[in-house]
Amino acid sequence: MQIIRELDTLRTVIADWRSAGERIALVPTMGALHVGHIALVAAARQRAERTVTSIFVNPTQFGPNEDLARYPRREAADAAMLEAAGCDLIWAPAVETMYPTGFATMISVKGVSEGLDGAARPGHFDGVATVVAKLFGQARPDVALFGEKDFQQLAVIQRMVHDLDIAVEIVGVPTQRDEDGLALSSRNAYLNAEERLAARALPRALGEAAASIARGDDIDHILDLARKRLADAGFSPIDYIELCNAETLEPVRQVQGPLRLLAAAKLGNTRLVDNLPVAGK
Ligand code: PAJ
Repeated sequence: MQIIRELDTLRTVIADWRSAGERIALVPTMGALHVGHIALVAAARQRAERTVTSIFVNPTQFGPNEDLARYPRREAADAAMLEAAGCDLIWAPAVETMYPTGFATMISVKGVSEGLDGAARPGHFDGVATVVAKLFGQARPDVALFGEKDFQQLAVIQRMVHDLDIAVEIVGVPTQRDEDGLALSSRNAYLNAEERLAARALPRALGEAAASIARGDDIDHILDLARKRLADAGFSPIDYIELCNAETLEPVRQVQGPLRLLAAAKLGNTRLVDNLPVAGK
């Protein structure tokens, strides 16, 4: 497995693979890898001969008061995990390689990126869309894999690829969870022992609410109850807990079509997000 930091080198390797007729899969990450990321690599290997994992802590998707500086960086451990998972190449550009002096273009996906995390984190999805479009231009993958864990991100990327005629197949991979249901996340490492225990209230509240919604109970009442469950477990503030159309992410109050229940809330200093499908009629 190679670790490449220069764009020319990446392009040469990718061109060689392409001329050999190999399909290329890309797994974009910010590193600090866990089993959730590795599930994306496993899914990638089922869809292409070559798997590229990018590791880049993308400054343009962090707000001024967010955790860019303290975001965990552990490239050696990441490389060992990726090697064991059968990844072929790590693309790990420096910030100056990704955003050289004079960089001036940002991609903004309207609608689907505006509510939920987009409202709580202004500019976040512009940074995500821009870096992912760049990664697509750099690695020229046939297929790219994203976790359902960041469901709005997946929807934003799908919208962007469709709108900009980018010829990359986007595949969503189900959320990988710890034994108690907490979605795996690099940010879980920030939780102390007490917070880690309390954190399981998030998947539980979502699971309970998703089941009640599918049963046809009153949606506003269910969401209020879920909010109370989170508050009781110590979550504050609760940024949102919302039932949305799974494609547009617009809030809905009718149990019809593909639905997703999404939540984001802080436990101490750590912001956790999670979501579940809801069976529609
Ligand atoms: P990062 O948070 O490192 O996540 C990389 C990918 O792993 C994302 O597609 C995310 O949804 C997926 N992932 C994280 N935890 C997961 C879990 N428990 N189960 C399944 N998939 C999981 O998301 C980003 O990085 C960045 O925004 C990025 C897309 C790389 C752009 O900078």
